[in-house]
Amino acid sequence: MSNHYIQHYQELLDQLEKKSLRRKLKVSQSPSAPVMKINGRPMLTFCSNDYLGLANHPALAEALTEGAKTYGAGSGASHMISGHSQAHDELEKALAQTQASFIPRVKALFFSTGYMANMAAITGLSALNDARMTIFSEELNHASLIDGIRLANKQNQANIKIYPHQDTQTLERLLNEDQQAFKLIITDAVFSMDGDIAHLEDLLNLAEKYNALLMVDDAHGFGVLGDQGLGILNMFGITATDPRAARLIYVGTLGKAAGLSGAFIAAHQDLVEWIMQKGRAYIYTTASPPAIAHGLLKSLELINDAQHRHQLIKNIEHWKKHLKLKKWQLMPSTTAIQPIVIGSNANALQVAHKLDQKNIWVPAIRPPTVPEGTARLRITFSATHTPDQINKLIDALHEIENEY
Ligand SMILES: Cc1ncc(COP(=O)(O)O)c(C=O)c1O
Repeated sequence: MSNHYIQHYQELLDQLEKKSLRRKLKVSQSPSAPVMKINGRPMLTFCSNDYLGLANHPALAEALTEGAKTYGAGSGASHMISGHSQAHDELEKALAQTQASFIPRVKALFFSTGYMANMAAITGLSALNDARMTIFSEELNHASLIDGIRLANKQNQANIKIYPHQDTQTLERLLNEDQQAFKLIITDAVFSMDGDIAHLEDLLNLAEKYNALLMVDDAHGFGVLGDQGLGILNMFGITATDPRAARLIYVGTLGKAAGLSGAFIAAHQDLVEWIMQKGRAYIYTTASPPAIAHGLLKSLELINDAQHRHQLIKNIEHWKKHLKLKKWQLMPSTTAIQPIVIGSNANALQVAHKLDQKNIWVPAIRPPTVPEGTARLRITFSATHTPDQINKLIDALHEIENEY
């Protein structure tokens, strides 16, 4: 029998290549840092989400080693079986503590990845037995939220309504029209490809007015936003005594500013308990190595030390002060994500390639990750970048922009 699969997938790959949409891996031979060895070449990098520079912090690597010595290498099973170690338990208590001033009777649940936390939270919350939930989703939500929402639609017959980016007026109209008793608004806290911050106060008010839950994915805010770096709820000064706060489902990820990997959901204990019972992405997977949980306790200590955060803020200010673009557009962001919109996929790739020739690594982000015609350079800063390194990027961008 003839096997037509290989040829078919080759054709599909060729089509991607022609549209400049075929993704390729680069291999790094050094730890995450501003200067990395990539495919054997030293490169100045502006592409990681290691905002505080903790991914290569010696104290974190040491804590990870100590964790492995204490708990061994693997967890051996899922959380519900025998994989939930003392380290996971301690970490969940510490993570809950990070949000305790903002959410009443808070409990935290730890996951191996943010992708899984989002899948579990959305499918868990929408598992309502006889009732149906309507999910109101921000247009620019991260793919992991979108996938969770699509699964909730298939598994639990949840309705899906999408509202335009930061458009709380349209969101209000949709909430007002909806007849379901169970409503869930879902948004990124910091939009991962744009860098702007969700209008949390307005969203919380709408959640209260229309009796909805509000899920906030703070993947890019935990560790950096707010005066204690505890994330978007910290930044907006939400208090656990605020009656609206029991409507919050907070998701923080731990592979970005926290420098390691994993994620957590923090919410009122009854919501979290239900997610734990019904979130299949929590139940049917092996718990991550306890050493990671042990290491993350050290991350929380390092986040608590404001010096990393202050340096990051200085770096962002330095960049904004010195970059002078003429044709391209810097997106209106105050966070460590500072994208420049180029437009076509081919041009974005070409600019990234020209930077690459100058030994600078900035990724070109193209559809479907961003809308058609808005391909961009996604520039990210870390506390460990120096002003000199940032100047090198600025000079290179000024020079390349002149060629267009
Ligand atoms: C907004 C957002 N949510 C969730 C995730 C997924 O987190 P993780 O990488 O831990 O799976 C990411 C990034 O990867 C993200 O940018």
